[in-house]
Amino acid sequence: MSTQPRLKLALIGLDRLGAIRARILSFQQPRIELVAACDTKSGSEVWAATYLPPSVKFFADTEDCMKNSGAQAVLISTATATHAPLICHALDLGLHVMCEKPISVGVITAEILTKAASKPRQKFLVPFCRRYDDSYQAAKRMVESGSLGQIHAAETTCLDQQDPTGFFVTFSTQSGGIFVDMGVHDVDIGRYFLDVKSELTNPKKQVNRVIAMGQQAFANGKVLTTHLGRTLTNGFEGMTRVCGTKGHSVINNNSPLNRVEIRDSYGVRAATTPDAFALYDKSIINDLSEFADVVLDDNPLTCTPDDAYEAAEIATALQYSVRNGVPVYFDDNCLPIIEAAKVTCP
Ligand SMILES: NC(=O)c1ccc[n+]([C@@H]2O[C@H](COP(=O)([O-])OP(=O)(O)OC[C@H]3O[C@@H](n4cnc5c(N)ncnc54)[C@H](O)[C@@H]3O)[C@@H](O)[C@H]2O)c1
Repeated sequence: MSTQPRLKLALIGLDRLGAIRARILSFQQPRIELVAACDTKSGSEVWAATYLPPSVKFFADTEDCMKNSGAQAVLISTATATHAPLICHALDLGLHVMCEKPISVGVITAEILTKAASKPRQKFLVPFCRRYDDSYQAAKRMVESGSLGQIHAAETTCLDQQDPTGFFVTFSTQSGGIFVDMGVHDVDIGRYFLDVKSELTNPKKQVNRVIAMGQQAFANGKVLTTHLGRTLTNGFEGMTRVCGTKGHSVINNNSPLNRVEIRDSYGVRAATTPDAFALYDKSIINDLSEFADVVLDDNPLTCTPDDAYEAAEIATALQYSVRNGVPVYFDDNCLPIIEAAKVTCP
């Protein structure tokens, strides 16, 4: 009976993700033989002896593991700050490399790419998890089949649990921080769905501009994220998510027309509100009621002229920003610092 060849692999890093990988490699990957596990943290040898098959050799030294474990490939699941040197070292030793995202904490990745490209017989994979998720793959097939039409925008979120212990703040010294550690997934999946390598006049230039505001949008330290579009085919959607430290409220998610679900050969569906008039049908009754009460009973307004002015001013500044490719700052009188002539609509 012939036995299929198995890839001899060493796993480096055995903590949060590494421990999960170790079990999968040991028991759920018929084409991989986990020959070694390595971690520099004391106590890791006990964990490996307890949870991994006896055939898996433990190493406390990374170089020793790469050179002497008999592995053809390594999976690097260590702290991000260690990725770049470990990738380069493994490639230099002739090993195939799989490394958890992100490739590094700084912009030194070109060196890694050059090295990997110079060793075309060695494989190098950084597996972004969304690309390997069955649902994302199903959506990608829809994109490729053309059933969604021409793709022009993508929208993602990545919202982790609040951690009162401060772990993520400490972790950020090794992880690269929230953009590099977490946002890299969103950037990757955006690139994946938006086919950013196509239709380029300069094949080297995929990116025009990025901007991140963090908690700086409003002077009170709070932030608003908005996606505007006029390309839906299912109807009108208007969702607002209000994010608090104890919970989030999501208003009009999916914006269903009513509470009827249709279950048929297409799956579970609901009709979307066709337009803003249907979604806000109650609002256009309530605002008239308030107005009557305000006029007749001298009640206070819940939406002041000042609210209307400020919202319009911010929206105008956003329009200027998108047309001119610049961020707009506001002065101490809360006036946008822009050239008036450029915001005049054509
Ligand atoms: N969805 C995803 O793709 C996903 C999810 C979680 C983590 N990750 C990535 O996986 C990596 C590991 O994450 P984690 O949460 O398991 O980290 P972790 O900090 O919990 O574990 C890292 C382990 O690596 C060990 N280590 C550090 N330097 C080493 C070295 N030079 N040699 C050997 N061992 C070393 C540490 O002792 C520790 O046990 C990170 O880069 C992270 O960004 C990816």
